[in-house]
Amino acid sequence: MRGGWLVVLWLGLLGGGSGLRFTDHEMEGIRQRIKSMFYHAYNSYLDNAYPYDELRPLTCDGQDTWGSFSLTLIDALDTLLVLGNNTEFQRVATLLQDTVDFNMDVNASVFETNIRGRGGGREGGRPTSEWWGVCCPPTCCLGGPGWSQSLAGPAPALSSGWLLTSQGNYCLMSDANQRGVLAAFQTSSGMPYGTVNLLRGVSPTETAVTCTAGVGTFILEFSALSRLTGDQQFERAARHALQALWSTRSEIGLVGNHIDVQSRKWVAQDTGIGAGVDSYLEYLVKGSILLQDQELLNMFLEYDRAIQNYTRFDDWYLWVQMHKGTVTMPVFQSLEAFWPGLQSLVGDLDGAIRTFQNYYSVWRQFGGLPEFYSITQGYTVDKREGYPLRPELIESAMYLFRATGDHTYLQFGLDAIESIEKISKTPCGYASVKDVRDHKLDNRMESFFLAETIKYLYLLFDPAHFLHGAGEGGDWEVGGEGCVLGAGGYIFNTEAHPLDPGALHCCSHHARERQELQDILLSLSQPSQNTNSQSETPTQADSQSESIALKPGERKTTPPLSCPVQPFSARLAVLGQVFTDPT
Ligand SMILES: *[C@@H]1O[C@H](CO)[C@@H](O)[C@H](O)[C@H]1NC(C)=O
Ligand SMILES: *[C@@H]1O[C@H](CO)[C@@H](O)[C@H](O)[C@H]1NC(C)=O
Ligand SMILES: *[C@@H]1O[C@H](CO)[C@@H](O)[C@H](O)[C@H]1NC(C)=O
Repeated sequence: MRGGWLVVLWLGLLGGGSGLRFTDHEMEGIRQRIKSMFYHAYNSYLDNAYPYDELRPLTCDGQDTWGSFSLTLIDALDTLLVLGNNTEFQRVATLLQDTVDFNMDVNASVFETNIRGRGGGREGGRPTSEWWGVCCPPTCCLGGPGWSQSLAGPAPALSSGWLLTSQGNYCLMSDANQRGVLAAFQTSSGMPYGTVNLLRGVSPTETAVTCTAGVGTFILEFSALSRLTGDQQFERAARHALQALWSTRSEIGLVGNHIDVQSRKWVAQDTGIGAGVDSYLEYLVKGSILLQDQELLNMFLEYDRAIQNYTRFDDWYLWVQMHKGTVTMPVFQSLEAFWPGLQSLVGDLDGAIRTFQNYYSVWRQFGGLPEFYSITQGYTVDKREGYPLRPELIESAMYLFRATGDHTYLQFGLDAIESIEKISKTPCGYASVKDVRDHKLDNRMESFFLAETIKYLYLLFDPAHFLHGAGEGGDWEVGGEGCVLGAGGYIFNTEAHPLDPGALHCCSHHARERQELQDILLSLSQPSQNTNSQSETPTQADSQSESIALKPGERKTTPPLSCPVQPFSARLAVLGQVFTDPT
């Protein structure tokens, strides 16, 4: 097979030798090294920056970037459990719950409305030590035409957290403030606004221009929310937005990167697999896997045909005009490095392997991935020379190692560890690289470094980790037969927070049963009334139906923790400008 032959060739070219193998002992050593990296950054953050959002690794202090939510700590929470530090996880979970005040007057604050929307029910929702994994759906557009400076907080987001147990086997999300979150979807097309004030709704002056990813990156979280709570509104809104986006694709099957959600006109007609579009494509694939939904997969496959036909050249992906397919920007953006991982999920391994090698060659050239890389010139692009320690290429390496067992991906992981240690380590953390050409540093450590970069690195070197489970495990059942939690098949959202498909299945099953039971009880207590029993569509969750039985007889109240959508938005903050730059 062609792919196999190429792998052998590449191994030779990489100079690692075709006999390149990591022993179990070496893997263990590297895992320890990744843990040391994590603790160096994590403890530095706690000692020098907490309770600010981010650590400033050059000046050894902290700064608020997204509204003082102690964001780095929230984001790092489930990484603690991935690394097996349950005691610290529990300590921090309690700390956050006790100290972080989500009830702040910040525009587009998802926390504020979540808390207020439930009448300050935080006491009742105090989480137990079982929870972990904060998840938020990302939307984007920061810096793009859809970005309104005055609403610079998190974009419309799920005002809820969702939580897995320390065994990674249970998933629970609190209900979101429907008025706040769903208000963004009240448009003539069903595609959401990019920003919304969750308390007051969409501002009358709000622009209707939203980036593609901001329209199409809801299905994982919203479906989970609907299936766990029984409230169908969220999944319906997410699907409606996806359908609307689908119907606006060009005659050659491509979508642009910013659309007017009222007029359905494409405002920015450049298309590619990176900034402004990326997680839309990611969520079609991951949504199809999580929900076993052929329709979502078909959409992706059709886009993929057009993407391969018009944007791929020598296994690089360029930017093209969505109607004509003409090349507009022959660059590789570091955000695009998730693509080989996604290709491996849909089974296009040969293409994934070749594209990964292209991206890896850029990494080797600079010891990191510049934000933009000119494919024609083989060099960085002016003002886009930074590497803020992004996770995407490491994420792809994790999927490709899983799919192929080829130790080339481990070699890349080790290269990544070594360059990060050599270039960006400071006495108190890891600093974003301002310029990959001279390795000058920025005084920032973005929270996705601990949430995603370290997590994917660790998972790359721990192939036996439960989050890689393919469906053979599982420890307990809810709601009867065939309902095993923690069996594997985890899907990572675009922030690297894992979702258990078993939990979705079990909980929606559970929600249906509970609804049926309630209907029966209701019909018994009100014999004269003809109850409208609809087991397919459970009614809106009330406080009763939000709580999901953990074990027979045991009830858990809804945890109110929620988190902002910082990392994904931040990733686009720099890049979004490219679409507005007149140059
Ligand atoms: C967990 O994290 C804390 C804080 O960094 C640390 O003191 C402790 O040694 C860690 N425990 C394990 C088992 O790694
Ligand atoms: C939120 O945005 C609105 C509209 O731009 C502005 O008037 C208001 O002062 C902002 N509120 C806060 C707390 O930033
Ligand atoms: C591929 O592109 C060519 C034009 O370059 C077009 O004629 C053809 O229909 C396209 N095929 C697909 C599957 O998009």
